[in-house]
Amino acid sequence: MKPIRKCLFPAAGYGTRFLPATKAMPKEMLPVVNKPLIQYGVEEAARAGIADMAFVTGRGERALKDHFAVSHELERRIAGSERESLLEDLCRLVRECHFSYTRQLEARGLGHAILTGETLIGDQAFAVLLADDFCVTEDAGVLAQLAAIYDEYQCSVVAIEEVPKAETSNYGIIAGEELGPGLYRVSEMVEKPEPGEAPGNLAVIGRYILTPDIFDILRSTPPGRNNEIQITDALKTQAQNGKVLAWRFRGRRFDCGSVPGFMAANEFAWRRQSQSTA
Ligand code: UTP
Repeated sequence: MKPIRKCLFPAAGYGTRFLPATKAMPKEMLPVVNKPLIQYGVEEAARAGIADMAFVTGRGERALKDHFAVSHELERRIAGSERESLLEDLCRLVRECHFSYTRQLEARGLGHAILTGETLIGDQAFAVLLADDFCVTEDAGVLAQLAAIYDEYQCSVVAIEEVPKAETSNYGIIAGEELGPGLYRVSEMVEKPEPGEAPGNLAVIGRYILTPDIFDILRSTPPGRNNEIQITDALKTQAQNGKVLAWRFRGRRFDCGSVPGFMAANEFAWRRQSQSTA
């Protein structure tokens, strides 16, 4: 049984809800307090035992690449000062993990972004983390929770949460049989259904473990909702041909792809940080 070694970070979306901030940089570089969303994501993957970080980039990719590169000048400048600790975690990540990049030439949807990442992943099960879903957990991170389920069942696993029925059109919605508390075998999956058409209110969030047969499925998945290649459609096929599980993760998610979610995340994180340093 092979553990999950690689995590794919799709970061090639246009981030139009965040214009003009996202005109020249990916939304994954927006900070919650003083740390970019993407760094929280990489830290979560590292805590799940993953050392290979694979990025699918688009416009403004330089900011991402520079963030995860060694910066000798900067490190020398703050060495020995009280600011040194601010870079400590990032320096450790940069030195302990491996970072690779490929570019999605056109934003043709999340499914297409994941397929673009095949060249960095190869023929093995892998994690996918959408850094604009900012997740806070008490114990294990969301990817670590999914990896534990993958270890047991050896199939694709997606993280889900309950959302208000009126909001189903913002998410991929699943339905399935509950195998145990919080664990479902997916039988139905629909991308952004209107409340009247949704098979329930369990929404997929931006954390996945995918088995590598997903690449062939994605290759033959036609564009769906918004004329984009949807990972939801490919997962539905995978669920019909084999098995896909969904896990109601322990923790709290903030949708940092939207301005209200991003502001709430900052408020939450700032309060927590202020309390812990008080
Ligand atoms: P979103 O659905 O939030 O789309 O993408 P978006 O284009 O980034 O944002 P808006 O709606 O215009 O504000 C979800 C995730 O999938 C990635 C995004 O970077 C984000 O992490 N993505 C999406 C890609 O990498 N490529 C795509 O073609 C689409």
